[in-house]
Amino acid sequence: MKLFDVYPINDITIVKGEGSYVWDDNDVRYLDCYGGHAVISIGHSHPYYVQAIEEQLGRIGFYSNSVRIPIQQQLAALLGEVSDKTDYQLFLCNSGAEANENAIKLASFHTGRSKVVAFSKSFHGRTSLAVAATDNKAIVAPVNETGNVIFLPFNDVEALKEYFALHGNTIAAVIVEGIQGVGGINIASIDFLRTIRSLSDKYGAVYIADAVQCGYGRSGKFFSHDYAGVDADIYSMAKGMGNGFPIGGIAIAPGILPKYGMLGTTFGGNHLACAAALAVLTVIREEGLIEAADKKGEYLKKQLQEVNGLMNVRGRGLMIGFDVADRFRDLRRNLLHKHKIFTGEAKPNTVRILPALTIGYAELDILVDAIKQEIDYLNTVN
Ligand SMILES: Cc1ncc(COP(=O)(O)O)c(C=O)c1O
Repeated sequence: MKLFDVYPINDITIVKGEGSYVWDDNDVRYLDCYGGHAVISIGHSHPYYVQAIEEQLGRIGFYSNSVRIPIQQQLAALLGEVSDKTDYQLFLCNSGAEANENAIKLASFHTGRSKVVAFSKSFHGRTSLAVAATDNKAIVAPVNETGNVIFLPFNDVEALKEYFALHGNTIAAVIVEGIQGVGGINIASIDFLRTIRSLSDKYGAVYIADAVQCGYGRSGKFFSHDYAGVDADIYSMAKGMGNGFPIGGIAIAPGILPKYGMLGTTFGGNHLACAAALAVLTVIREEGLIEAADKKGEYLKKQLQEVNGLMNVRGRGLMIGFDVADRFRDLRRNLLHKHKIFTGEAKPNTVRILPALTIGYAELDILVDAIKQEIDYLNTVN
C-alpha cells in the first residue's frame, strides 16, 4: 500500500527533536520556528513531558469513557486554573476539527437553531461542520455544503450588526479565531469580539472562540480572545494542548448544560492523552510560558519591524506574521535549505513564525539574522 498523496512535503526526514531544534536523518540540525504548525508549545521532547507519558503508558494507556478516568478531572481542574475559566466544563476529543465539530453541534443543540456565522479567511478544520465554516472553497466537498453557514467580512462590526438585526433569531453560533492562523495572522479587533459577545447575548446565539491555533498561551494570554476582556461561551482547543500528542477539547460555559449522549468519542480523554496534556499545562504554569510568550513576541516583533523588506509585521506573543514582496518569495525556502530554519506560511506571501513558547532569545536572534542575510541576498539577485 502507498500513502494517499495529499501533502506537498519538503524532502526532509526529521528523526529527533529537543527544545527548539530538530534533527534530520543525516544529523543536520534545524531551528524550529514553525513548531510543527503551532503544535509544539513546551519544546520538543521536554523531559517532564516525556517522563509523564512514559510513566502513564507503563500503568495504562487507554480505557473507554465508560469508566471513571480521574486524570480527566485533574486536567479539567488545572485547565480551569491556568486559563482562568474555573467554572467552565471540559469535553475532550482528539483534534482541532473535532473540537470545532463538537462546539458547533453543541451550540445547535443548545439553541435549537441551525445557522452559523463565520468570517472571511477563517480556517476551522477539514471535517463536516468545521470545513463548512472554513472560507476556502477548494477544501469544501459538495456533501459539506449545507447552506447553514453564512460568511461575513472579518473585523467588520457594521456588517455583523446589520446581519444580526435581520437574522439574529436564527443564529445558533458565531465562530471566530482570536488571531486567524491559516488566513495569515489577522488579529480580531477588540471591538469586533466585544460586538460578537453583545450580539450573541442579545439574540441568544453561542459565541465560539476557535483557540485551536491562537490559544494555549501562544498569544501571550491563555486565549487570544481574552484580549477583548469578554468571555466566549465555548473555546475550542487542540494544537498546543498536547505538544504533539493528539488531543483536543472544548471549554464550555456553565450555562450550557450537558445531557447523556449529546457528545461522545471513543478515544477522546484517554489516559495517555490526558497525561500528555496535564504535563504540558504543568510546564506552562511552572515555567511561566504565557508571560514568556508575550515578552519574546514583543522582542521578536520589534526586531522584525526594523528589517527592510518585511511588510506589515503583526501578531501577538509567539504568533507572528509578516508579508514579503514577490521578489522575496524564496525567503522561506532559503531559510529552510540554506539556514536550516523552519518557518510557516500563509498564501500568497505571508511568513508565519510559530515557535515553541520555550524558544530562547538567542534563537530569535538567529532567526532575525538569517532573515536579514536572505533579504540582502535576494535583493542582489532579483
Ligand atoms: C484555527 C484552527 N482551527 C482548527 C484547526 C483544525 O485543527 P486540526 O488540524 O487538529 O483538525 C486548525 C488547524 O490548522 C486551525 O488553525
